[in-house]
Amino acid sequence: MERLRTVNSKALYEETKEYVTDGVGSYFHRAKYQDYPICMIRGKGSKLYDGDGNEYIDYVAGFGPMLLGYCPEEVDRAVTEQLKFGTHFSAPTRNLGALGKRLTEIIPSAEQVVFQNSGTEAVMYALRLARAYTGRYKIIKFEGQYHGWSDEEKITITANSVEELGDREHPNKIIHSKGQRLSSADDLIVLPWNDLEILEKTLQEQGDEIAAVITEPIMCDSGPILPLPYFLEGLRELTTQYGALLIFDEVITGFRTALGGAQQYYGVTPDLSTFAKAVSSGYPISVVAGKKEILGCGIHAAGTFNANPLCVAAALATMDALSKPGVYEHLDHLGKLLCDGFRVLAEKYNLKIYTRHIGGIFILYFGFDHDVHDFREWLEVADVAFYERFVQEMEAYGVRLTDERGREYLSVAHTEEDISRTLKVADFVLGKLT
Ligand SMILES: Cc1ncc(COP(=O)(O)O)c(C=O)c1O
Repeated sequence: MERLRTVNSKALYEETKEYVTDGVGSYFHRAKYQDYPICMIRGKGSKLYDGDGNEYIDYVAGFGPMLLGYCPEEVDRAVTEQLKFGTHFSAPTRNLGALGKRLTEIIPSAEQVVFQNSGTEAVMYALRLARAYTGRYKIIKFEGQYHGWSDEEKITITANSVEELGDREHPNKIIHSKGQRLSSADDLIVLPWNDLEILEKTLQEQGDEIAAVITEPIMCDSGPILPLPYFLEGLRELTTQYGALLIFDEVITGFRTALGGAQQYYGVTPDLSTFAKAVSSGYPISVVAGKKEILGCGIHAAGTFNANPLCVAAALATMDALSKPGVYEHLDHLGKLLCDGFRVLAEKYNLKIYTRHIGGIFILYFGFDHDVHDFREWLEVADVAFYERFVQEMEAYGVRLTDERGREYLSVAHTEEDISRTLKVADFVLGKLT
């Protein structure tokens, strides 16, 4: 196998960083291990093409949105059609209600929806709603979970060690960025995930101050880590008992684990949930869904670009495409092929490899081969250095994986041929690294 040459990416990056801070549009686009990021020029289906004309089988999916693959025809058509009428009016449009109706049919907890532009904003909105509705101010969030990058959201999203996380029953609140106000975390309580005992104790002590518990239903951003049996049901029961709202952050799991998200997959209905990414195949729109009584409690969604007509058209077309028969069966089939393939490679190279798949999410990590239950355990067993080298080498031979988290995204456009090529490259790379 030949290593890809990426000299044009390097040159493009060198030029861009003269004018754009860090040379990237988002800090997450930076090159984590290399000297420069690969600049992408074009995508089609499951493939991306870089500035040097190299082809990559892509499992990054633009960090999740591209569940239909790149340039899905039905979405391109809907957006092109809308372009003829105009791109932005700041007024209700014909399709706004149609999209709202469609989402309330698809998302189990949605009696109504509110639109924003990004996952970060949707979570900010959900937290404000929870506070307004309950008249309480504290929010419980879990270690290692990322809900966006606002001051209050970017707390204990990661850690370098279990020691840094502090005492398990009263974890530290880690502030990650320069410039983040120290008071950002004042109204947050951070707890370890998958532990109903500690949650119940906290609710017993402070329940009448707690507006909401927010969680990803599958802990995707670190790990990923699956919920223990009855954990989500337990969250539902305890929050109801203590009068706090349960918020599912489905920015990643939404439309990926199942059409109705992880709440449909696990059969647990939150009071509020947030969606973004896969709702619209790469157009910036996000959704807060929930009970009418909560959404209508008197806070109002401002935002110049909210429910922009192009994004609404893209989201409607995406929902139609994902509703077609066979979509989730196809994702499941491909996920199983990848899992089985990596288990064979684990034996061949005598490696501990952890793989799981749920809908359009494929989990891959090194250093352990059993389910782990929280971020602390993950920090102790995960072989981060090996995963990083593996990702770096896979990219150098034309397979693009997420750079640190072990969460890979399948799309409807991936094929069996993609999977078998991916496994061949993985076989070659693991041979080099072991
Ligand atoms: C679970 C979760 N919530 C919220 C966000 C923030 O979404 P956005 O990047 O659209 O602001 C992300 C982003 O990756 C996420 O993974």
